[in-house]
Amino acid sequence: MTSHLGGARVWAKREDCNSGLAFGGNKTRKLEYLVPDVLANESTHLVSIGGVQSNHTRQVAAVAAKLGLRARLVQESWVDWPDAVNDRVGNIQLSRIMGAQVQLTDADFDIGFKQSWQNAWEEIRAEGGTPYAIPAGASDHPLGGLGFANWAHEVAQQERELGVFFDTVVVCSVTGSTHAGMIAGFAEQQRPRRVLGIDASAKIDGTRGQVGKIARATAERIELGRELRDEEITVLEGWAGEHYGIPVDSTLEAIRLTGRLEGVILDPVYEGKSMAGLIDLVTTGEIGPDSNVLYAHLGGQPALNAYSALFRD
Ligand SMILES: Cc1ncc(COP(=O)(O)O)c(C=O)c1O
Repeated sequence: MTSHLGGARVWAKREDCNSGLAFGGNKTRKLEYLVPDVLANESTHLVSIGGVQSNHTRQVAAVAAKLGLRARLVQESWVDWPDAVNDRVGNIQLSRIMGAQVQLTDADFDIGFKQSWQNAWEEIRAEGGTPYAIPAGASDHPLGGLGFANWAHEVAQQERELGVFFDTVVVCSVTGSTHAGMIAGFAEQQRPRRVLGIDASAKIDGTRGQVGKIARATAERIELGRELRDEEITVLEGWAGEHYGIPVDSTLEAIRLTGRLEGVILDPVYEGKSMAGLIDLVTTGEIGPDSNVLYAHLGGQPALNAYSALFRD
């Protein structure tokens, strides 16, 4: 990829390989920090929400299985993508295999509070269970940013081991706590670097607001000792297309290029969009030729099964 683009040196840190739990992904790292709270509350059920092909709910199902808990997953019709097996393959199939109780609900993409999620929570209480509520993407949760604040420290340690410094990090952003956690974690370090979020929600104002809010809350929780500055919070638009979950030409080109050059698989909802951003930023020199840029690969490949119309030629 580096020689193909002819500019900055491109590295990747692979959250798609971060765990043996159901193919891992960025939510596994976030959930690691919620689990002690789940256990302290003596919860019986994890209750969460996402789109039908949510990677997040699949990782919640895996964590519940591993802990011996039940998972109740509200899966909303966030994406208008007509694949006949959308609700049978990929992430939702994996969640069912892991024993999660899956509830399909008709509702549009929105990462905010949902009544269906509240209803599921109340049903479990009425049945005598102790539900633990995990919002979409485990983001709007007091502990949601901690996994990726620690990721920033892991990066610093790996830089020391490798003898390299990543001046720029590129990460996909939707519910916000992945990018936000990174911002807070890197702010604790001495060397300045750019942490560029690439919006994949096609609702840029919502993403920016969410990232800023969670970054500041996480900074306080890890006792950064200062306010984050506005210029530390950068979410870029331009690669999401018009709708969450629908790939555009640049998404498909980025997926093909990364597959053919590196043997690395990206998905059409998230990582194909952030890689399209990286490719453009490196190619135009916005990320300069002397940079070492770190691409955060956040997982998401199981959803490819629900995009069977793509890549047939
Ligand atoms: C594969 C993948 N990449 C990126 C993201 C975006 O991360 P976040 O929701 O923390 O902004 C998600 C989840 O939303 C995801 O599943």
